[in-house]
Parts: sequence; structure tokens; C-alpha cells
Amino acid sequence: MAKILEEIHLKHMKIKNRIVRSATHCFLGTKEGAMTEAEYAMYQELAANDVGLIITGHCSVSPTGMANEDQTAIYDDAFIPQLKKLHTLVSKYGAKVVAQINHAGPRAVNHEDLAGVSAAELKKGKVARELTIEEIAQIKTEFINAAYRVKQSGLDGVQLHVAHSYLLSQFIDTTFNHRTDAYGGTVENRFRLIREIVVGIKEKCGEEFPLFIKINNDSRTDDLAYEQDLLYMLQELAKLGVEAVELSGVDFISQPRTATNYYVERITKIKKAVPELPIILVGGVRSLADMDQVLESGIDMVSLSRPFICEPDIIQRLLNGQEKSKCLNCSKCFALPRIKPGIRCVLKRK
Ligand SMILES: Cc1cc2nc3c(=O)[nH]c(=O)nc-3n(C[C@H](O)[C@H](O)[C@H](O)COP(=O)(O)O)c2cc1C
Repeated sequence: MAKILEEIHLKHMKIKNRIVRSATHCFLGTKEGAMTEAEYAMYQELAANDVGLIITGHCSVSPTGMANEDQTAIYDDAFIPQLKKLHTLVSKYGAKVVAQINHAGPRAVNHEDLAGVSAAELKKGKVARELTIEEIAQIKTEFINAAYRVKQSGLDGVQLHVAHSYLLSQFIDTTFNHRTDAYGGTVENRFRLIREIVVGIKEKCGEEFPLFIKINNDSRTDDLAYEQDLLYMLQELAKLGVEAVELSGVDFISQPRTATNYYVERITKIKKAVPELPIILVGGVRSLADMDQVLESGIDMVSLSRPFICEPDIIQRLLNGQEKSKCLNCSKCFALPRIKPGIRCVLKRK
């Protein structure tokens, strides 16, 4: 049996195999933050096609933290039933489903008063101001309440988005964080907000409710210092009882088209340093050989995003002998107008 098909037992969650659909915003929601039938159909198709763990596209914890106009929202109890429905639909197939929760910070759409970890000049002549301590406390509460709504919906767990330059990832990374108060400076201070949110979620949702974290393995500035900081943060997350950490990277879009397993070297090193923490690798996994390399390196699970947009049944195709995903790594799935529900891929234009 292929190694990816082996069952895995994390801290509290048993998953039927090692395959994760990484959080992928699918541009299918309404402007009011609701999930649509096309979105449910997309998740069902993934669940029916061998994905053990589905992570939803990022759901916004705040009306002022939306990263996209058509993004799923989780900032009000009114959004609980839609996740409940999602869970009912995908768990029929034996898949687990976890909601990713996020705050876009200075990358928020349809919001004038942009604020981030520190003041910054943004694209298109926009600027962001530094969040006040009171606002940080409010954002912490928004994350904890959002996680509790996910729990109330019956979903299998929640994932905090601490990657890809959204607000939480900015706190930990000196590229963005220039604060001089309790949330800036030392790694302990830069990690403070994540710790407070994790502790708050554990208190409110219970120790057993699975809490995942997605975090960058690298940084655009002072990457060696970031690597040291990351080890500290992962050790702390292990002690705090997180379920697993999914390691991504800052530059997955600009990787050479033919590159695969972008971060396997760094992440293998990290796994060896924090063996007690289950690790999921995402970025450029395209073939069974790539997946075997990841798992044989001691990393616990493999996660894919763009290949599932291109071929939702990619796992069966690989198991049936297709050498690798047809995904061109062009990342036009971010930018193409919607062609038909759920599909934004140059290979499916007709
Ligand atoms: C269209 C699109 C939407 C994405 N949305 C999210 C998201 O909501 N949350 C997130 O953490 N990552 C998101 N990502 C990043 C992916 O989860 C993944 O980390 C990245 O694409 C690298 O994996 P891949 O090489 O398998 O595509 C998105 C990627 C794409 C292409």
C-alpha cells in the first residue's frame, strides 16, 4: 500500500490517510460571507476523492479582516449552520474537515482604516497604521470566538492562519514587526499574540478540540534568525498541545515552474528538531515520488492546493499510474475570472 494511504493518529484526531487539501480560497462565496452550493459540491468532490483532511479556504474572523470579497465569514453566530452543513456533507466520505480562520490585517478589502502589526506603506499608495494594544486584544477575542463557532458547528477542528503575510504571520516576522511594546522585539514578544490566541482557544473550546497552525518555514529578511525563532515557536506550540503544524513558505507563487517539494530540506530539519510535533508539508507536492520523499523524510503528512484545483481526483490518477499532477504552477487560479463554478484553471478554460 502506498505510504500516503496509511492511517494517522494525531493528538486527538484519527485521519484515514496522509493526504491534506491545504486551505484554498475558492472565490465561490457570496459578498455576505455565505458558502454556496457550488462550494459544497467542490468540498464533496474532494472528500469523495481520497482527501483525508480538508482544510477550508480562510474564513474571516472579523468584518474588517476580510481578505477577499467573496470569502467565507465566521465572525457571527449566523455563520455556524453553513459549516454544520459542510461537515455533514464531507464526513459521509470518511474525510475530516477543519476550518481555517484568518484576519487579513493591512491586506483587508473594502476597508479604509487599514492597520497591521506596524505602520507600513502598502501597494497603490495605501498606508497602514500600527494596531493599538486595545485593538490587538479585540482581534485576539475575535479569533477565540471564531474558533468556538467552528467547534459549535461540529467541524473536526480549526486551523489558525499564521502564514503568507496575513496579520498573524506579520506579528512573528521582523520583516513586518517593528513594535517596541510587549508584542515586538524578542521572539517571545513577537510570538505573544499567537500564544494568547492558542491558550484562549484551548480554554474556550477544550483541550481535546483539534487546533492546527499554518506557518511559514521561511522569511524574506534575516531568514537564518527566522529559522531559529521558528524552532522556539514550534517547541512552544508543541507544549501548548496543538494538533499539527502545516509549514508553508513566503514564495510559493514565484518558485520555478518545474520545482517540486519546495521546502522539504528545511522542513525535514525542523521535524528532526521537534520530533514530538506532527508536521504537514505544503508547497510543490506533485507526484507519488514527491509524497514518498516527504513521508520518508519523517514528515507526517503531505498537503496540496493547486493540483486539486486542476484535478480534484489527482490522488486516484497518481495511484493509477499518472506520473505527476498536470498543474502548471502558473498560479493563474488566483487571478482568472471564474469560468464555471469552482474552476479557475487555465487547463479547464473550455
Ligand atoms: C487560489 C489559491 C487560494 C489559496 N487560498 C489560501 C487560503 O485561503 N489559505 C491559505 O493558508 N493558503 C491559501 N493558498 C495557498 C495554498 O494553501 C498552498 O499553501 C500553496 O498554494 C502551495 O501549495 P501548492 O504548491 O500545492 O499549490 C491558496 C492558494 C491558491 C492557489
